[in-house]
Amino acid sequence: MKPVKIGLLGLGTVGQGVANILTRNAAEIERRTGRPVQVVSAAVRNQGKAEALQLGLRVTTDAVSVVNDPEIDIICEAIGGDDPALSLIEQALSNGKHVITANKALIAVHGNALLSLARDNKVVLAFESSVAGGIPIIKALREGLAANQIEWIAGIINGTGNFILSEMAEKGRDFSDVLQEAQNLGYAEADPTFDVEGIDAAHKLTIMASVAFGMPLQFDAVYTEGISAITREDVGFAEELGYRIKHLGVARKRSDGIEMRVHPTLIPEKRLLANVNGVMNAVLVSGDAVGPTLYYGPGAGSEPTGSSLVADIIDVVRTFDADPVHRVPSLGFQHDALTDYTMLDTADYQSAYYLRLQVLDQPGVMANVTSIFGDLGISIEAILQKEPEASQDDNASVSGAVEVPIILLTRRVREGLIEQAIERVQALESLVQPVVRLRVESLS
Ligand code: NDP
Ligand code: HSE
Repeated sequence: MKPVKIGLLGLGTVGQGVANILTRNAAEIERRTGRPVQVVSAAVRNQGKAEALQLGLRVTTDAVSVVNDPEIDIICEAIGGDDPALSLIEQALSNGKHVITANKALIAVHGNALLSLARDNKVVLAFESSVAGGIPIIKALREGLAANQIEWIAGIINGTGNFILSEMAEKGRDFSDVLQEAQNLGYAEADPTFDVEGIDAAHKLTIMASVAFGMPLQFDAVYTEGISAITREDVGFAEELGYRIKHLGVARKRSDGIEMRVHPTLIPEKRLLANVNGVMNAVLVSGDAVGPTLYYGPGAGSEPTGSSLVADIIDVVRTFDADPVHRVPSLGFQHDALTDYTMLDTADYQSAYYLRLQVLDQPGVMANVTSIFGDLGISIEAILQKEPEASQDDNASVSGAVEVPIILLTRRVREGLIEQAIERVQALESLVQPVVRLRVESLS
């Protein structure tokens, strides 16, 4: 049978993974699709560097020529970013080519328009590799769990961030040193602040939430907090209380609307998610029929990401001759049945909280703090008051100038209420530093 021809845009970490898998597993892939699948050309910026890889492909710096090549059936975009990836994908779709992309930033922000363009041209725009690297989470949400009303998703969905937090917690390594290693290993985004400030995870959460709940992609509705402010001190206190700190993406469908949030989170140490380390990702999905299900695997890297991209290619090839209406809808729901749910204001989000208060060790401080929480009706689950550090001198102790941390764990509460409590605690004279606030999720 006539081979299916692939044009690659980008031959970096992901592009090379795709080329290697399609070459090494060509026979197995043909057994699955019924046709040979071949990469015929690749577009890059640096032609010499790409040719030195000796992958046996036509290499060009003219990416437009690849998307306009009539010989090519499927375009795989692994350049990243908006420009020129967006215009190349638009051109490819308009030319009637199927497009597979690993570019979550592009799908999260421009996905609605691109999916509409794909529909108009009766082609597929697929993006499994854009979320959680090698884990087939889009397929699981869209097909495996299709019988369910998805209630919530909570995931470690950035490999670089999890690698950094794990190395800091387990080996006491320095943040910037571990980030450099993640960049060397090809895990990090071109701009690594996307990884550490949670933007990459917010892109992925946007995509997962749309596929889970059947709604248009809404990146702007995600609340995002990064991991760069996490201190070893908080990692230590969390451990004393039986928790690990992980960078989580959480999407929850409530009766009054949708919460989508990315932030460092304390998770009970016994939960499987708390034990996902290094570049590994994991996504916990709760469906009304199945209950909680967990998906685990490498969240970044050349062949793990290539594995998801090639799976999308195989899916597309299998439906080449199918009427487009018989294909699985890209977001898992019929496009005219997507629902514009209310996006909840952050003040209405609900979570339990870890609060660290650095206070002067004076009589009445604890009573003042707890009365604020009592007045607001916020239940406190646990309190940890630490001894003053031995390094603080005796004179300071007599004058009441010794500092001590107080750690509070609250029950689940509206975010607006915890903000009020923090504001009132910060007004106490005995408070010597801004309150550290982290969310706590029991994931039960
Ligand atoms: P790399 O930086 O490793 O590779 C990018 C590739 O794109 C390079 O081959 C580069 O060419 C090429 N390129 C850049 N600009 C142009 C251009 N204007 N025209 C033609 N080619 C161009 O990135 P990754 O492979 O890591 O990431 C690619 C995409 O995959 C991103 O969207 C990323 O978010 C996503 N992704 C990455 C994962 C990972 O583990 N790395 C995992 C999941 C998704 P040259 O080398 O010549 O400069
Ligand atoms: N930079 C991303 C990560 C790549 O570290 O998770 C995979 O999407």
